[in-house]
Amino acid sequence: MHGMEGTDTADRYLRFGRFEARGHSPTYERLCAAVADDAALLGLLDELPVAKRQPNLLYGAVRFLGGPLDDGFLPWVHEHWAEVSAVMRERSTQTNEPGRCATLLPLLTSLPQPLALIEVGASAGLCLYPDRYRYRYDGGQPLGPASGVTLACRTNGPVPREMPRVVWRAGIDLNPIDVRDVEQVRWLEALVWPEQEDRLSRLRAAVDLARSDPPHLVRGDVNETLDELVRQAPRDATVVVFHSAVLAYLPPAERERFAATMRRLPVRWISNEAPTVLPDIAARLGRTPPADRGVFVLALDEKPVAFTGPHGQFLDWL
Ligand SMILES: C[S@@+](CC[C@H](N)C(=O)[O-])C[C@H]1O[C@@H](n2cnc3c(N)ncnc32)[C@H](O)[C@@H]1O
Repeated sequence: MHGMEGTDTADRYLRFGRFEARGHSPTYERLCAAVADDAALLGLLDELPVAKRQPNLLYGAVRFLGGPLDDGFLPWVHEHWAEVSAVMRERSTQTNEPGRCATLLPLLTSLPQPLALIEVGASAGLCLYPDRYRYRYDGGQPLGPASGVTLACRTNGPVPREMPRVVWRAGIDLNPIDVRDVEQVRWLEALVWPEQEDRLSRLRAAVDLARSDPPHLVRGDVNETLDELVRQAPRDATVVVFHSAVLAYLPPAERERFAATMRRLPVRWISNEAPTVLPDIAARLGRTPPADRGVFVLALDEKPVAFTGPHGQFLDWL
């Protein structure tokens, strides 16, 4: 991920443990401290490209290979480093979180219907089915069709009362994940943090749903493929290009190139990214993002409208 260049690997693990895992995964918090203290493993990690030294990628690889997360973790990683590092080099963190649809839904329903959806950085495309999931905002009445996937979301304001009408959907990814491929889905499962059983069952239910009608996913870099996909979208629908947890993977100049493309294309633009990722949107926030919890900034056509839970767990309207 960009922005991590020049960061010491031990420090990267310690910060991940303190600021990301704490409160969400005691296992990963403990492992981060252990890795940061293991000079030999840090040396091995430093032989990988910077983007491949991520804690999430190491833990995902160990779990994918069936390794332990208890006190046996470090000895096992040393013994199996060839396999672990091969998985880390081959795969990347492509966590696909359908829960994010709960934060996208209010904006989707606010636009002229019907919609043609294009997701940038779609992974397996599970966020391309906002109309097939059921929603429960603030524990209230369920909204949406009967579905194997119900998404709960806390809000501090209005919640949608209607569902969007999606007539076309497609995604772009550097490495699209095929929901019909058991090994690829097993990798997605290995990326869900160990204590988060509810996220794992949600992922499995969303994969089942997507398997019955797999999404059209185009392989490629967003900056090379978006124009063509927009041209393919039906003209009698509102074309919505959206993305969450994606642009941090692009270097700043490529993010700027993407933003320039979005301003030029005849589409609506929904972004849901960490606050520092799109500086022009951050500049319009008018307030500092909360420092005590990770948030994304949800924006429509570059106008920020809410802070959102990175997994779709809350929607705080600005
Ligand atoms: C963390 S995943 C997020 C997946 C999905 N947006 C979600 O919210 O669940 C980021 C995805 O962006 C993709 N990605 C990263 N850089 C990209 C690029 N330049 N062009 C297309 N896809 C990219 C990765 O392959 C990965 O699948």
